[in-house]
Amino acid sequence: MNTATSELLNRKVGELHNLPAMPAVLRSLSECLSQDAEMVSIDKVVDLISYDKSLAGQCLRMANSALFQRKSNIASIREAVVALGIRNIRDLVYSVSLPKLFAGTKHGMAPVTFWRHALGTALISQHFAYRLGIKPQERFYLAGLLHDIGILVNALLFPKEFGEILEAARESQTPLCEVEQRVLGFTHCESGRILADIWKLPEDVCSAIEFHHQLPNEEHDPETVAVVYLADLLCRLRGLGYGYYEARGFDLASEPSWQLLAAKYPAALRLDMARFTFELDGFAVEVEALVDSIFSTERHS
Ligand SMILES: [Fe+2]
Ligand SMILES: [Fe+2]
Repeated sequence: MNTATSELLNRKVGELHNLPAMPAVLRSLSECLSQDAEMVSIDKVVDLISYDKSLAGQCLRMANSALFQRKSNIASIREAVVALGIRNIRDLVYSVSLPKLFAGTKHGMAPVTFWRHALGTALISQHFAYRLGIKPQERFYLAGLLHDIGILVNALLFPKEFGEILEAARESQTPLCEVEQRVLGFTHCESGRILADIWKLPEDVCSAIEFHHQLPNEEHDPETVAVVYLADLLCRLRGLGYGYYEARGFDLASEPSWQLLAAKYPAALRLDMARFTFELDGFAVEVEALVDSIFSTERHS
């Protein structure tokens, strides 16, 4: 992005003041997380989530979903906080808050499409890290979930252009970021970074947002960026993309992100691709079922 475009984008963000604020419940949960574990008040966390009945209901549904691999039934927010821990609860609250922030956009992507892609990328990023033996694997969920937050920014700040971008990308089966660059002079990576800074997100999440369509660079959390890059691509090629088919070939071994991870983590070379692909397809089916059930419940409540 050149200086003039960067100034335009920053001015637009500054003038409009209509970028969504980080939901208050998330700010409070993030503050809780920055304290020592023994200082965190479970009562406070339970109260924060329970205050919003719809948020609490969605958190419970997710906590009980097969995607989060719960063995026993979780009947209350208190049980969910105790069973999953504050960090996972924060990730769940992010997961259910994100599509609500998107609900007000007029010419953007359908919230259900965006959410399937975000949730799919979060889960596959975390699973990818687990299969490669990268620790701690939990940190990849949030990076995957928020990597495309700039799509929300572009749909809010440039609704007319973004509607046209989406249409042109769909028609030409081209990656969204290529059309954004051509029409706007920047992509959702740059605008997402601005929102990430406003929200004061963790640095590795910011890097995933800004660099997930670029080759990994040693200066910017290369492991997180590489994992999210591959998870995003796998989602787009396996039916959890932006709601249209992208004409793009894929050969994992020739992807620089894969090569970077394979050089650092020997487990990559032993990865059973057939089994991994089978697992990804299982995620895709469950993500669709979960997102559809939450959206259909919202419509009827
Ligand atoms: Fe993206
Ligand atoms: Fe994406």
